[in-house]
Amino acid sequence: MKKIFLGATLVGLLTGASVATYLFWPIETQARVFSNTKGNVQRGAYLARSSGCFACHTDEKTNGPVLAGGGPLKTPFGTFYAPNITTHPEDGIGKWSLADFSNALTHGKSPTGENYYPVFLYPNYTKLSNQDIADMWAAFKTVPPVANKVPEHDLKFPFQYRFLLTAWKRLFFEHKVYEPNLKMSKEWNRGAFLATGPAHCVTCHSPKNPLGGLDYGHELNGDENGPNGEKIPAITATALSKNGWTKKDIVFALKTGSKPDGDAFGSSMGEVVRESTRFLTDADLNAIAEYVMSIEHKDGRSIVKNQ
Ligand code: HEC
Ligand code: HEC
Repeated sequence: MKKIFLGATLVGLLTGASVATYLFWPIETQARVFSNTKGNVQRGAYLARSSGCFACHTDEKTNGPVLAGGGPLKTPFGTFYAPNITTHPEDGIGKWSLADFSNALTHGKSPTGENYYPVFLYPNYTKLSNQDIADMWAAFKTVPPVANKVPEHDLKFPFQYRFLLTAWKRLFFEHKVYEPNLKMSKEWNRGAFLATGPAHCVTCHSPKNPLGGLDYGHELNGDENGPNGEKIPAITATALSKNGWTKKDIVFALKTGSKPDGDAFGSSMGEVVRESTRFLTDADLNAIAEYVMSIEHKDGRSIVKNQ
């Protein structure tokens, strides 16, 4: 009996120790180095549009000031409020440097070294190149300062503890610029970069595991438990073709918000079109459609066709 007790205590201690190591051992990701990278405001503004920054960081429902903080974003973990990211020195990010901006977007780290919640889509934005980040920073520096304090997140126990995100990052996050798939065309790769990265089609339209990580292998197969309790439809080629969608229909819908049956997108997809995709070039919309229509859901898995 005593032996079992001792053994159990030891296992408990060891597990405790490894959990502690898991949570507190620093993740050795190198901050990106920017030497003489000059940002292009116009390119950066276009990227910010493609990335949905406006949709989350502006409170559309109350007609709130642009980028000065978002409305409530309800998730299974609680309610998040996207911060003020105008150049206001106290309420916004007016005192930030390019390095702070890069650490936030590509490493999910705040200027004081805290972890951000992945609802701020750094697992997507880490795919942006250094030039992309520098361009976006140049654009954000031109946003006028707006005083607006955003409410604190209202999260369920234990999700208010940011240190727990270290474990989340170990499991589900990798700092990695987009790597092209050399078997596929340039257009497909541009679409894959946008859809899996900044435009985050794949993030919304794929199922998640109970910890909110992407359920790989089922990309674009829909999410029953989307943000704000929405059911997000599957948009694999398999699902879309069954409903009569073509590549042309996707491009048209992303541009205008109208589906082939004449209905308008509702809910968060309406917001995606209003705040993001209607600003994209035809070339980029075609690239996204090319990528989406290359993903098949077959034998219970998502795969790239003709690879
Ligand atoms: C899906 C919603 C969503 C999108 C899209 C989004 N953000 Fe955020 N963002 C958030 C939330 C929520 C937080 C707060 C995260 C936290 O507290 O850990 C945040 C935090 C931030 C912060 C940290 C601000 C601070 O005061 O610490 C910056 C900077 C930021 N976002 C910039 C951007 C940029 C730039 C884009 C577009 C490239 C973007 N965000 C897209 C939801 C979003
Ligand atoms: C914030 C989450 C979110 C993001 C990001 C998002 N979608 Fe959607 N999408 C939705 C929701 C919710 C619907 C259902 C809307 C409706 O039926 O009114 C939808 C519907 C669609 C449909 C129609 C499917 C059908 O069968 O009716 C297509 C096509 C689509 N999205 C493509 C995309 C593409 C391409 C992207 C990336 C550029 C994207 N979505 C990004 C949430 C999102």
